[in-house]
Amino acid sequence: MNRKEFFKVSAAASLASLLSPLSAYAEKFESEGKKVKVAVIGCGSVSTQYFPHISKCPYVEIVACCDIKPDRAQKAAKQYNIPKWYKHIDDMLSGSKFDLMLTLTDMQVHGELNRKALMAGRNVWSEKPLANSYKEGKELYDLATSKGLRIWGAPAVVNSPQFAFMAEQINKGTLGNLACAHGHYGHEGPSWSAFFYEPLGGSMPDLGVYNIATLTGLLGPAKSVVAMTTIVTPERTVDDKGKIKVREEDNAMIIMEHEKGVLSHIECGFNYFDPYGHLGKGQEKATISLYGSHGNMHMVGYDWAPNGVDLSTMDHPVPQRFVPDTNGYVWQEGASDISKHMALNTEPRINVEHALHVLEIIEAARKSQATGQRIQLVSKFPWPMVK
Ligand SMILES: NC(=O)c1ccc[n+]([C@@H]2O[C@H](COP(=O)([O-])OP(=O)(O)OC[C@H]3O[C@@H](n4cnc5c(N)ncnc54)[C@H](O)[C@@H]3O)[C@@H](O)[C@H]2O)c1
Repeated sequence: MNRKEFFKVSAAASLASLLSPLSAYAEKFESEGKKVKVAVIGCGSVSTQYFPHISKCPYVEIVACCDIKPDRAQKAAKQYNIPKWYKHIDDMLSGSKFDLMLTLTDMQVHGELNRKALMAGRNVWSEKPLANSYKEGKELYDLATSKGLRIWGAPAVVNSPQFAFMAEQINKGTLGNLACAHGHYGHEGPSWSAFFYEPLGGSMPDLGVYNIATLTGLLGPAKSVVAMTTIVTPERTVDDKGKIKVREEDNAMIIMEHEKGVLSHIECGFNYFDPYGHLGKGQEKATISLYGSHGNMHMVGYDWAPNGVDLSTMDHPVPQRFVPDTNGYVWQEGASDISKHMALNTEPRINVEHALHVLEIIEAARKSQATGQRIQLVSKFPWPMVK
């Protein structure tokens, strides 16, 4: 290679690495078989769903875990052969080298912990929400970008083959002119931790977030929101704090306005008797429905664990079931999926601007309840999500 060619190649390579901060990991994975080094913060309930999945991910090496309840971190380290465990994020950031932090703590501290990780040069996968406000989330995204890092947020609902099928039908115009959609998700509320019921907890960021991600993912960014939220059960008893006052909504109805006059509606809450339990096993009814001038379409089961899509059109009015298999998709896969994309230098469907839009909608719903107003939104995300 002559000097001119060398500069051409290295200029292209540095442009590629500017365009894709993931390329550095991909190079190491390809040339040295180096896995993405992962650290987990928050070793509570959801970590018991994450660890079994990510510990089997071929692209990942879990190098550290952390919890302010150190016995939890110690237990996880022992169970999953994790070399180091910590009781404080600062110790983990200074004591272990890793590429990606998984934030699985109480919702209220996600923003603060994610900022610390980014400041220390780590990429972030965060359980929802990735920050406590849209403003804070956007700052984190800008911080990540300025440092050549990435941040992504749960949920992973857009990864299901059922989501992809529905998006493809919308792209093809199978439903004609889309008019409306509905999403439903609730259960009796978590019994283990108080933070779900404390300020900036609530049923929208814990449960409604799935339907908001699915419906905006399918229908495109929302332009405005109206909502009502209430507290149905003012007191609860939870494992970590005993009897507590419920201070954030446990019941919510949200209406979103999308492009071309499409309206969607979501109901979510912590007071829905659910015979399918917290894990939603056996839910055979549709929880996401879309209606258009030529057809309608229903996602069977919860959007985070769908079992199929029922489609009915003017040409074929008898409903037909499609995509009965998940092809390996599980809601716990978000961090493993991101690690795979980091290792291979490919772009995941899960998109941080989408997560930020969902966060803005949750905030707008609260503002709508507080003011009685319809709230205009500013954020957008790349859409359609399935081409
Ligand atoms: N539990 C589930 O099934 C489930 C499912 C999907 C998503 N989520 C989400 O996962 C997150 C965690 O929920 P959970 O149910 O696991 O809660 P949890 O209370 O069971 O666990 C949270 C853990 O984080 C730890 N923690 C809190 N602050 C910390 C800090 N500053 N540093 C280190 N550790 C800290 C707590 O000690 C606790 O062990 C929430 O965002 C929730 O919405 C939970």
